[in-house]
Amino acid sequence: MRGRDLLTLLEFKPPEVEHLLELSRDFKRRYYAGEIYIPIHRGKTAMLIFEKPSTRTRVSTSVAAYQLGMNVVVASSQELQLGRGETVADTARTLSRYVQVIAARVYRHEDLEELARYASVPVINLLSDKFHPLQSLADALTLWEHKGRLRGIRLAFLGDVGNNMAASLAVIGAKLGWEIRLIGPKRLWNERLASALAEDAAATGANIYFSEAVEDVKGVDAVYTDVWVSMGFEKEAEERVRLLSPYQVNRRVMELAGPQAVFLHCLPAHRGQEVTDEVIDGPQSVVWDQAENRLHTAKAALAALTP
Ligand code: CP
Repeated sequence: MRGRDLLTLLEFKPPEVEHLLELSRDFKRRYYAGEIYIPIHRGKTAMLIFEKPSTRTRVSTSVAAYQLGMNVVVASSQELQLGRGETVADTARTLSRYVQVIAARVYRHEDLEELARYASVPVINLLSDKFHPLQSLADALTLWEHKGRLRGIRLAFLGDVGNNMAASLAVIGAKLGWEIRLIGPKRLWNERLASALAEDAAATGANIYFSEAVEDVKGVDAVYTDVWVSMGFEKEAEERVRLLSPYQVNRRVMELAGPQAVFLHCLPAHRGQEVTDEVIDGPQSVVWDQAENRLHTAKAALAALTP
């Protein structure tokens, strides 16, 4: 995998996704055995670019790189000449002369694709408007730990089923043979995504479908939600809250899902909106394990992809 970009996870075959997760689990085991510093990329540098705010991604990816022996440069696009109009292509060409891997959080997925096209080093997606692949790896590791298996997970995502997180869960679900129920208003359904995943789903036995019925959470292994107003969609806030309020994850939804279901949220959460305090702080919630796993999966991605 060395030298490859990670933009969506669609570009990785199912065994490669499993390999990244096995590597993540191994890094986590070694971390708890006291082997935190594993400098396999000593002396190399990771450049992290953020067009949007971040807590988990910024810190976990930086710490992961340090723990692999790397130097880290973090900058917002406003701190780079990008903010004054230097092209993405020229930025990619320049940075490739200094660093061994570039990771970026961007508003437009197309900018990430352009960065990857012109960079001669690997480019990793730290969230775009279309995908959040590193988060989905952390989610899969969390479910593996809590459910004791990596394949055949049944997950219901409630709320904004057209967003980047729903898309990335569908992608990883297709790679790992999961049943993904994307439950939310029909006008947000991204039917094209389901067809893009058809080949992987046929190979792994995954089943990915949309529904408007909250009752479809019944019997799942995991209930997942995300903010209703993603970064960049603030102008639509009022309308989205109205549209999505029937899909709030509250005690009734968790009871419908059943006691076997764990609750996941990529965070940050808007408590009282897409999820109640009672659920996110309740006994079925695994959100802090999920947040921790951003570190171990970022470490695996940097370890595997950095040349
Ligand atoms: N889940 C996630 O990406 O969190 P941050 O926005 O804090 O990085």
